[in-house]
Amino acid sequence: MKAGLIYSQLERNHTYPLMGSLPVYKMRASTPPACHLVRSGRNPDERIYTGGLPVSEKERSPNSMSASSPANGYPLDPAVGSSDCRITRTEPSDYSHQPVMLTEVLSILDQIPSGYFLDATLGGAGHSKALLELRDDLHLVGIDQDQEAHIAARKALMNLDGRFDLVHERFDRIDEILDGLNVDTISGALFDLGVSSYQLDTPARGFSFRTEGPLDMRMNSATGISAKDLVNNASYRDLSRILKQYGDERHSKRIARAIIEARPLATTSQLAEVVIDAMPAASRKSPGHPARRTFQAIRIAVNNEIEILESALNKTIDRLMPDGRCVIISYHSGEDRIVKRTLRTAAGLKNTVPKHLPLPEVGGSVRLLDRGGKTPSENELMQNPRATSARLRWFEKVRN
Ligand SMILES: C[S@@+](CC[C@H](N)C(=O)[O-])C[C@H]1O[C@@H](n2cnc3c(N)ncnc32)[C@H](O)[C@@H]1O
Repeated sequence: MKAGLIYSQLERNHTYPLMGSLPVYKMRASTPPACHLVRSGRNPDERIYTGGLPVSEKERSPNSMSASSPANGYPLDPAVGSSDCRITRTEPSDYSHQPVMLTEVLSILDQIPSGYFLDATLGGAGHSKALLELRDDLHLVGIDQDQEAHIAARKALMNLDGRFDLVHERFDRIDEILDGLNVDTISGALFDLGVSSYQLDTPARGFSFRTEGPLDMRMNSATGISAKDLVNNASYRDLSRILKQYGDERHSKRIARAIIEARPLATTSQLAEVVIDAMPAASRKSPGHPARRTFQAIRIAVNNEIEILESALNKTIDRLMPDGRCVIISYHSGEDRIVKRTLRTAAGLKNTVPKHLPLPEVGGSVRLLDRGGKTPSENELMQNPRATSARLRWFEKVRN
């Protein structure tokens, strides 16, 4: 593999010679988290910047990644220290995530101009890999705030070396990331929002009400407040608002009260039990796990998912070249409301156009070609029930 580069915007004065590619699992975020760019192959003589930590050749060798090795990066993960539970990390080789609505995404993005394609939620690179294989005139800029996603993505993209830059960051820092790569405009973008199956299925990440784990739920385990911090410290008012607003939870007040009475909580099962006990008997019997809305709401709050979405979409719109396209897949109503509102505003539309009429062109910066968006096919839902709540919206940048 060719040389790569990690650099941190806060640590530009430190340079370290690089030989061989740098596995992303070696990255440790500085505090505050810096912008980590992991470049692949374009500039073989580039240097590494790693938030101040020199990376030894031994550490950089992909062969040094093993479950038992203390050099695999995990023992220093602050997530371990922040929980009362012992964390057993799943090896990233277990990463599995089925890309949602892949056929629909590819049929839209196959039409974009040549250039840089921004995947704001890289995950295991399921969508991006398929797109790069379809279009050899695209170069991927892949962002994910989860270090473990980077390991999986890098592995998936192994045969496409030289055609991607991976960035460990939150996607609202699009401008800093693209400027850091000297990229002015992009030809396409994808936001496949929410969490990956890997995150949900890894008990140590604390996302799931189905398995015992520490109450964590941070996509970036190296920074920010955990679910444990949130449920143990938030006021009754904030907790009930979070449950209502981000989880559409009808029983937000009862649950918030029960959480406060049961504090301190440390594990996913403790939280799930408190929620189940707080529910009225009739609601406990309704379909779906009684704690699913609470877990969704807390995860959204912990990761600031709603607050940053609108600004990230607007920055993407600004960066898209004419005829460039952006696809957004959201998984719950709060997210989709923001996507819809942001796109309608950018398209210059008011809410007064009746639903059955096509959208008029009114001089906005984007064109919405698929009013109402798309949902997964029956066939996909049979194979991947996790796609059930997906709604895909997309737009095209207009020529000025
Ligand atoms: C649904 S998965 C994406 C799966 C991917 N499309 C694939 O096919 O493998 C969402 C990913 O986005 C990441 N993510 C979510 N919100 C993010 C944010 N604000 N900034 C950066 N990454 C984010 C998550 O860590 C997760 O890995």
